[in-house]
Amino acid sequence: MSSPPPASRTPRHLAVIMDGNGRWAERRQRPRTLGHRAGAKAVQVCIEFCLANGVEALTLFAFSSENWNRPQEEVGALMKLFLRMLDSEVEEMHRRGMRVAFIGDRSGFPEPIRARMAQSEALTRDNRRMVLTIAAGYGGRWDITQACRQLAEDAAAGRVDPASIDESLVQSRLGLAGLPEPDLFIRTGGDVRISNFLLWQLAYTEMWFTDLLWPDLDTASLQAAFDAYAARERRFGLTSAQVSGGAA
Ligand code: FPP
Repeated sequence: MSSPPPASRTPRHLAVIMDGNGRWAERRQRPRTLGHRAGAKAVQVCIEFCLANGVEALTLFAFSSENWNRPQEEVGALMKLFLRMLDSEVEEMHRRGMRVAFIGDRSGFPEPIRARMAQSEALTRDNRRMVLTIAAGYGGRWDITQACRQLAEDAAAGRVDPASIDESLVQSRLGLAGLPEPDLFIRTGGDVRISNFLLWQLAYTEMWFTDLLWPDLDTASLQAAFDAYAARERRFGLTSAQVSGGAA
């Protein structure tokens, strides 16, 4: 068994479910799509906070595999918003040393978005300051399933010995391969569940939930989440004495 990573007071990797855009708009008697536009501004707040705090990786759940079943008008508006954000923000992210990556099944996305995803990844691939991963068309079960399929194909072709398949090999085929596992998970919008996000990767992640709707996210609420994280003891299945360096 591998030993737990060293404790750190600031999360290296933050994973976020940005929930509540629709309700934020509905409370103002405005179309849900306006809530998503306001949500895009909160994404900037979150990115700035992470950069200022030296976070190495930020993973945002932008569009789940289930979101394709929303009303066509809302899906269309979200696609336009994604395209606009990719067009307007990626250059600036590149200038600031961020790497942009996408996880999820891209096959359902319109070709112009898929092309922008690939271009954004290619443009920023050598940047090291922070990795922004956008989960789009993503589901945790999809992720684990595609990893299994890859390994099965490799085993059938003789490239992988089935006896050598262990947790680290499975991990290496998942969407977030190569990144540290998320230390902190934040979900806004009041629901207390994972909703098929990073099912494998959240195994030992600290969870923080807030009733705040995503467009209302501000630096103070992010700081509250980071403060709560700093106060937690992460045991990774060990005893408190073991992780604090005391008696075994
Ligand atoms: C969940 O709120 C949010 C989404 C399905 C879309 C998230 C998209 C953005 C924040 C904008 C763009 C972001 C990026 C990274 C490109 P909801 O609609 O489920 O809200 P509700 O629970 O109140 O209905």
